[in-house]
Amino acid sequence: MDTYRKLFIPDEPKRTLLITGATSGIGRAAALLFAAMGHNVTATGRRADRLDALKQEAEDKNLSGTIFTVQADVTDAAAMKRAAALTLDEFDRLDVLVANAGRGHRGALVESDWSGIETVLRTNIDGVIHSVRAAIPAMRAGGGGHIVLISSILGPVPAPYAGVYSASKAAVDALGRSLREELRADHIYVSVLHVGQTHTEFAEKRLGTPGRVASRWPTMSAEQVAGGIARALERKPRTMTLRWIDRLFVLIGRGFPALADRLLRRVYGSK
Ligand SMILES: NC(=O)c1ccc[n+]([C@@H]2O[C@H](COP(=O)([O-])OP(=O)(O)OC[C@H]3O[C@@H](n4cnc5c(N)ncnc54)[C@H](OP(=O)(O)O)[C@@H]3O)[C@@H](O)[C@H]2O)c1
Repeated sequence: MDTYRKLFIPDEPKRTLLITGATSGIGRAAALLFAAMGHNVTATGRRADRLDALKQEAEDKNLSGTIFTVQADVTDAAAMKRAAALTLDEFDRLDVLVANAGRGHRGALVESDWSGIETVLRTNIDGVIHSVRAAIPAMRAGGGGHIVLISSILGPVPAPYAGVYSASKAAVDALGRSLREELRADHIYVSVLHVGQTHTEFAEKRLGTPGRVASRWPTMSAEQVAGGIARALERKPRTMTLRWIDRLFVLIGRGFPALADRLLRRVYGSK
């Protein structure tokens, strides 16, 4: 914890973060980490009971920062604007957006039902766009900020039977790259995190068809990824992949696509 406290914007002790998808997994771990570091956090998600539990946990642990909760669906542009406005009312500023809310999907494209595909695209693409559009005016008003987009190693390296999810994360990558230049003059940094397999509720809530996934690929904890978000805020990288094995995966996937596809076929290559 001390390492991250030192790493995260050391000269300005209190920052305000808006974290989407903070009711479980990576978003929840990040909300608790940044509150423990003394920062102000607006935590959003759809499940009100989980938001209440998160706030209660921060209070029970007597964390030095504050967690303020706003129930919001990222697919609803007005709800995300409201979350940004309420953050300004509560904390007077917005320094960091962690666009984390997301859904998984696997399954053959034709056999998968459209409603699951649509949910994933609406959440992972529209949801990130609505979150970013809501946060930018507040950051501009404060003179700058940092947007961290939570992508996946399957964004740069798509896997078979994960086309919908991979496409949604590739869209996040494209958005991040474009915005990094677009927002430079506003002093708003944009970083894209390529996250590898992480132990959260993500797998059990994955949409599409049940089937083989990369169960033998090593798994990180949500807390490890939250630490990675803190490192990204300090280093402001264009993209960041947290573990050497995931970096190797992305490197092979980009440099040697035929080899990567052969390996992926062994891991993901069944319905
Ligand atoms: N776990 C992995 O292996 C892995 C690997 C690579 C990348 N990632 C990425 O990491 C991010 C976080 O996933 P996780 O692993 O922490 O999964 P998780 O435990 O299932 O958490 C997902 C979060 O997203 C929220 N969410 C889903 N749909 C939403 C919506 N329409 N509006 C608002 N919030 C919504 C959920 O909250 P509510 O249901 O309460 O709304 C929940 O808080 C995702 O973008 C995912 O793609 C995960």
